[in-house]
Amino acid sequence: MTPQQLPAGMERVYVSLDTPDLDRAAYLVKALRGRVGGFKVGKEFLSAQGAAKAREVVGEEALFLDVKFHDIPNTVAAALRALLPLKPAIVNLHASGGAAMMKAGAESLRKGAEELRLPQPWLIAVTVLTSLDEDDLKQVGQMGPLGAQVQRLAQLAQECGLEGVVCSPQEIALLREACGADFKLIVPGIRPAWAAVGDQKRIMTPREALEAGADIRVIGRPITAADDPSEAVARIAEELS
Ligand code: C5P
Repeated sequence: MTPQQLPAGMERVYVSLDTPDLDRAAYLVKALRGRVGGFKVGKEFLSAQGAAKAREVVGEEALFLDVKFHDIPNTVAAALRALLPLKPAIVNLHASGGAAMMKAGAESLRKGAEELRLPQPWLIAVTVLTSLDEDDLKQVGQMGPLGAQVQRLAQLAQECGLEGVVCSPQEIALLREACGADFKLIVPGIRPAWAAVGDQKRIMTPREALEAGADIRVIGRPITAADDPSEAVARIAEELS
């Protein structure tokens, strides 16, 4: 099945492969390929296997490399460029790394894609990690309240030429209003009504997040920890149709 033939709404669901294990990741991709929009591969897999293996394991499927870079501008620019041959659809960095770092990253991807004749991925910023609360922000010298800090960093990312941000379901409305219709909102913390909530605190169902205006919904454990991941995807597709 090509992505165009996916059930409505599923083309914007990315399944997060949160495992360091190559066989487990390969099993999940085999079970789900062609039935979701793509796969997100993060630090667990990247630390154990490396970014090239991430492309290998997802094959032709769309790939979100959740690298969350945060370093000096020169390093981030070069590191992002080094990902281009893997043809990721989405890559990311921490907005708190600052405007110069974000601009250097965006420029490096634009130039690199042109020079190497490779597709240019969306560059997405992480604003405030959802694991942090206002006390944590204060401790590291960041200004609250939390919503204001999220909005400040999202607008800075937009000014620096980034395509969008990762945000919690509860931040969708605020950021749509602040950053407009074209700014991409990538939303984890998605839980179908029948799935265990786990450690996620601010959640929405896949349908609620779609209706609230999420561009991409990232779903992990409700699919990957299900006894039958394929059946979990079928249930989500049915809820969305
Ligand atoms: O299993 P679950 O659906 O909670 O997975 C969500 C994915 O999104 C995980 O890979 C997690 O690291 C990531 N994530 C998140 N919250 C953020 C940013 C990323 O849950 N704020």
